[in-house]
Amino acid sequence: MRTVHSGRGSVFVLCELSATDPNFPRYPRLPVHICSGYTRTQTQNPHTPHHSIDASFILREARYWDHVHPDPRTPQLWHDPQLFELFFGAEYRWLVERAVLCGPDVLELGCGEGTLALELTRRGCTVTGIDLSPDRIRRATLKAQTEGLGQRVTFQTADLNTVVLEPNRYSCILAHDSLHHVLNLDHLLNQVRIALGRDGRLLVMDYSGMGRVRKLAAAFLYAILPTYKPYRDKWMLRGRLARFLATESEKREAIERGETATLHSESPFEEISQSSLPRLLHEMFDVTRFSTMLPFWFYLAPKLRFPQRLKYRMAELFRSMDDAMSHLGIRGAWFTVEARNLTRASTAA
Ligand SMILES: C[S@@+](CC[C@H](N)C(=O)[O-])C[C@H]1O[C@@H](n2cnc3c(N)ncnc32)[C@H](O)[C@@H]1O
Repeated sequence: MRTVHSGRGSVFVLCELSATDPNFPRYPRLPVHICSGYTRTQTQNPHTPHHSIDASFILREARYWDHVHPDPRTPQLWHDPQLFELFFGAEYRWLVERAVLCGPDVLELGCGEGTLALELTRRGCTVTGIDLSPDRIRRATLKAQTEGLGQRVTFQTADLNTVVLEPNRYSCILAHDSLHHVLNLDHLLNQVRIALGRDGRLLVMDYSGMGRVRKLAAAFLYAILPTYKPYRDKWMLRGRLARFLATESEKREAIERGETATLHSESPFEEISQSSLPRLLHEMFDVTRFSTMLPFWFYLAPKLRFPQRLKYRMAELFRSMDDAMSHLGIRGAWFTVEARNLTRASTAA
């Protein structure tokens, strides 16, 4: 029996085959479910499948998503369809088209109010959507019923940190802008591997973070340039700078200690996973497409206040500046991934 300790405290049991197969050293240091020859001889380690999370944090997170609504003084790209199209449109459409092709049995992780799940249902897929927020799930279900789609789409409340998925159930599992809220990514991605059929695909479009230097630059520009939030209100935010700059590991440590100083005041799992997300996807799956985008200016684009006639022109300029940074090789803060389960051949390659 061999075990591997992940950096975040999980312990994985490795395959029996790993003890005898000479190819073993070339396998990734990961759990075993995809390894042909795997025999379950040991029950799961008490540390897996998930780190224990204070239930009050999860409750707070669910309440936040139940009630959060757009704040006109802190606009986001996804609140303005024209800005969303400019910054995310092409990649979002790629996600939808690939999901339709990879369907028909689709699971959406962190489906929110069901926008994407319902679009896929209209396009012929049979969809299950999971989300932490009971209110969002209620609203999504109501929309499905109103549109007469209730037969082919199901919405369920569940926590992705602990969810258990049915083996070989889906031909496509996708997540849009939700995985960076999940602490127990190892557990979730392991469940995804189990739930994906043999030829199934995982599709992800998510946030992997800007890093501290870029965040500091963003905070500085946000503070000095005219924004929809008045200067006086921005000055009141100065106490939150440390939270804004906190790294993924600082946030994770805070959750483990039950402290809140470096966490978002209402959404404790905001950005709890960032850079680890693409890394883990590469470790645990055979990634067939990976691209990053929008290194910096996307963050300021919706928040800076320009005369209305200039608003979208400036946004176009910001988009070009982000593209230029990407061409210079600067890693984007957002990424898209298409992946499938590792096969024995791909692990030995
Ligand atoms: C930024 S929203 C994106 C929603 C949707 N995917 C979309 O694009 O409109 C993030 C979603 O993740 C959900 N979420 C956050 N933490 C979660 C968890 N631990 N388990 C399940 N869903 C979670 C939230 O409730 C929220 O609906």
